[in-house]
Amino acid sequence: MPGRRDTLWGTRFGFYLAAVGSALGLGNLWRFPFVTVENGGGAFVLLYVGFVLIVGLPILIGELMLGKIARRGSVAAFRRLENDDEIGESEPGTFGAGGFAALSCLLVLAYYAVVSGWVLHFLMQFAFGGILSSGENIDSSMRVLKDSGLLQLALASVHILISLVIVVKGVQEGIEKWVGNIMPVFVVLLGILVVKSLATGQATEALRFQFYPDFTKLNWHSPLHALGHAFFSLSVGMGTMIAFGSYLKPEAHIPSAGFRVATLDTVISLFAGLLIFPTIIGMSLGSSGPEMLFRALPRLLQGIESGWFFGVAFFVCLYLGALGASIGLLEALVANVTEALKVSREKAAWVVGTATVVCAVIPALSSSVLDDVTVNGRSLFLFWDSVVVNGLLPLGVLAFCLALSKKLKAAPAIHEFVNDDSLVTQTLYSHWRFAIRFLIPSIIVMCVMTSLLASFAEVIFLGR
Ligand code: PFF
Repeated sequence: MPGRRDTLWGTRFGFYLAAVGSALGLGNLWRFPFVTVENGGGAFVLLYVGFVLIVGLPILIGELMLGKIARRGSVAAFRRLENDDEIGESEPGTFGAGGFAALSCLLVLAYYAVVSGWVLHFLMQFAFGGILSSGENIDSSMRVLKDSGLLQLALASVHILISLVIVVKGVQEGIEKWVGNIMPVFVVLLGILVVKSLATGQATEALRFQFYPDFTKLNWHSPLHALGHAFFSLSVGMGTMIAFGSYLKPEAHIPSAGFRVATLDTVISLFAGLLIFPTIIGMSLGSSGPEMLFRALPRLLQGIESGWFFGVAFFVCLYLGALGASIGLLEALVANVTEALKVSREKAAWVVGTATVVCAVIPALSSSVLDDVTVNGRSLFLFWDSVVVNGLLPLGVLAFCLALSKKLKAAPAIHEFVNDDSLVTQTLYSHWRFAIRFLIPSIIVMCVMTSLLASFAEVIFLGR
C-alpha cells in the first residue's frame, strides 16, 4: 500500500500488540504441545528455548531492523538492500531471499488456513454443538472433520476469505492492533486454565515431562524440529517481521523490542504445554499428533465448572490469534504479487487467495480422500508441515543471513543497536553480527545435516 510507512506506530505499545498478535497463534497453542510430545518432552523444550534465544532472537532482530532501515516490506526491502548504497553494499547476487520467503508464506498459509478452519469448527461445536455433553461427542467432533475433506476445505476457504477482506480493505493495521489488544485477555484466560489444568492431579508429572531434560528421549531429528519450531513460532524466515519493523518509529530500540516479543511468545508456548500435558498424561491420550489440542482441551473443560464458557472464550481468542498471523502472511504475499505482476492490490489479493485455496486442497484432503497417500509413513498433512517448518524456514533464514551479512552496511545496523553509551549496547552489535555471519548458519547446517543423515540411515538400515 503506497505511503503505508508514513503511518508509524503511534505508541511503542501499539507495535508490540501487533507484532505479538502476529507471532502468537497456532504455533504456540496447537503445534508446540504435539511436537514436544513427539520429541520426548523436557530435553526438546530446552533445545527449543535455547534456539529461540541464540538463533530466533537475532533473526527476529535482523528482520525488524531490515524493515525499519529500508522502510519496506520483504521483497522491496531486499531490493533496496541490493540497490541503495545508503544501506547496502553493491555486491553482485540476489540470494533469492525475498522470492523464497514469498513461496514459504504461501505454503505456510495454505496449511495454516486448514488448521484455522479446525479452530472455527471447534468454536462452533462449543458454541452450538454441546460438545462437552459426552466423551463420545468430543471424538465425533474430530471424526466429522477428519472424514470430510470438503468440510475442511470449506472452512479453510472461509478463513482465507475473512483474512483477504481485511487485507483488501486495507484495515489490517487496525485489525492487527485489535487482535493484539485481545491477546492480554488470552494470556489471562490461559493463566486461569493452566491453574485449573494443573489442579487436576497431574501437576508433578506434567512439570517433569515439560521441564526435566531427559536427553535419551531425543532423536536425531529433534534438533532440526526444535529449530524449525522456533522459527515458526517467532514468525521468522518468511519476511513477515520485516513489514512490522517498517512501521517502527526512528527512536525505537530494536534489540529490546525483539527480546520482549520473543520472550512473550516463548512463555505462551510453555503455558500451552502446561495446559495440555496434565490431561494427556492423566487420560493416557498418548501422542495424538496434530489432533492433540482438540482432543485434550475439551476433555479438560468437561471437568471444569463453566467449561462451556471457557471453551468458547478460548477458541475465539485462538481464532483471533490465527487470524492475526494469517493477515501477516497474506499481507506479505499481496504486497509481493502487487509488485511482481504490477496489478492492483485487489487483483493481487484474489490471485493470492485462489492460489492459497488451491494449495490448501492437499492438507485439507489428507485425512480423507488422500488418506492412503503417505510419505515415509507420514500423512500428507504432516509431510507438508515438515517440509515447510523443518525445510523452507531454515533455508529461508539461511538466505536471510547470507543477504544481511553480505549486503547490509555496518553503519545503519550499528545505529539500531546503540541507544546509549553503555558497554552492553556497544558490544551487542558485534555479538549479533557474529551470530548472523557464523553461528546461525553453522547451527542450521548442522541440524539439517544431522536430520538428513538420520533419514538416510533409516532408509538403508531400517528400510523405512
Ligand atoms: N508465528 C505464528 C504462530 O505461532 O502461529 C505462525 C506464523 C505467522 C508463521 C506468520 C509465520 C508467519 F510469517
